[in-house]
Amino acid sequence: MIDKALDGKILSVIRKNFDGYISSDELVNALDVSISIISEHIKAMRNEGYDIEFLPSLGYRLISVPDKLYPAMVRCGLEKCRFASEVYYYQSTDSTNDVAERLAVNSDKEGIVVIAEKQERGRGRLGRKWMSSENVGIWMSIVIRPKIDYMNACWITPAASVAVATAIREVTGLSALIKWPNDVMIDGRKVSGILVETGKGNNQLPFMILGIGVNVNHKLNDFPAEIQDRSISLALAGERNFSRLDLVQEILKNLEKYFNILEEAGPDTIVSEWEKLSVTFGRRIKVQIPAGILEGFGNGIGENGEILIRKDDGRIEGVFSGDVIIE
Ligand code: BTN
Repeated sequence: MIDKALDGKILSVIRKNFDGYISSDELVNALDVSISIISEHIKAMRNEGYDIEFLPSLGYRLISVPDKLYPAMVRCGLEKCRFASEVYYYQSTDSTNDVAERLAVNSDKEGIVVIAEKQERGRGRLGRKWMSSENVGIWMSIVIRPKIDYMNACWITPAASVAVATAIREVTGLSALIKWPNDVMIDGRKVSGILVETGKGNNQLPFMILGIGVNVNHKLNDFPAEIQDRSISLALAGERNFSRLDLVQEILKNLEKYFNILEEAGPDTIVSEWEKLSVTFGRRIKVQIPAGILEGFGNGIGENGEILIRKDDGRIEGVFSGDVIIE
């Protein structure tokens, strides 16, 4: 049976030499396994789409990796990241949040990541359906166990939104902004959504599942007709395709960064980053609430994560749950 963990180790060793070759002897020394096992793995990796060149006089060289979110690639370079402790990969699944929950129930680990190329029953906030077309997006869930007291639990979604918007900006250079409570927007259209769910394990330990969806390389027709006017992909906004792998890794790194900050220093940095990235700050907005529609100007985020609206009479009102419409 092939030990998939070795794929990751081979990858991290030859990736370090991205421009150069690594000899068979160097690989054997670095990995402490026989060259026949290494060659068997490299053969299997080539079948998965890795382009690995071999020249007898020089050794191995990594030319390119497949456009897949394989665990070995996702973990490469993130071996110490708290949000990438184990990565599970599916070509297709119901919802990565469900898979992550099933894994979390029987574990006390943090940072279990579940990624699928396609979801049959991807879901969004308020029970909405989340379209998850094959091979073009990031459909990923992460088991988190933040070390914060329950008073600060309201900062989980804002911290995750800041991490996702920042990662998108870093990888693509596009102006991703946050729309309260859990959307990331580009050019007024939704490019990413975050769904936070909670659960309790068989060991009674609570956990949270951070479900993140990002529309990456979609063409307009990859979206159903009814959401085409509200949705966008990074490829549509940037007029070129982007590496889903780079985005996943950057999201995981930024999640680690902002959750560490939240745990160590409280919510102040999240609030200021959120306000810098907020699409509603100072804009005229309407918020759909059960009692009707509240209108005014976006006035930031309150001390419990609620959106603040400055109404026309000058009073500020906070809303904890609703949909925001930007005028
Ligand atoms: C929203 O905008 O309402 C949240 C969308 C969250 C979608 C992601 S895709 C990965 C994970 N699995 C799901 O079923 N949903 C989340």
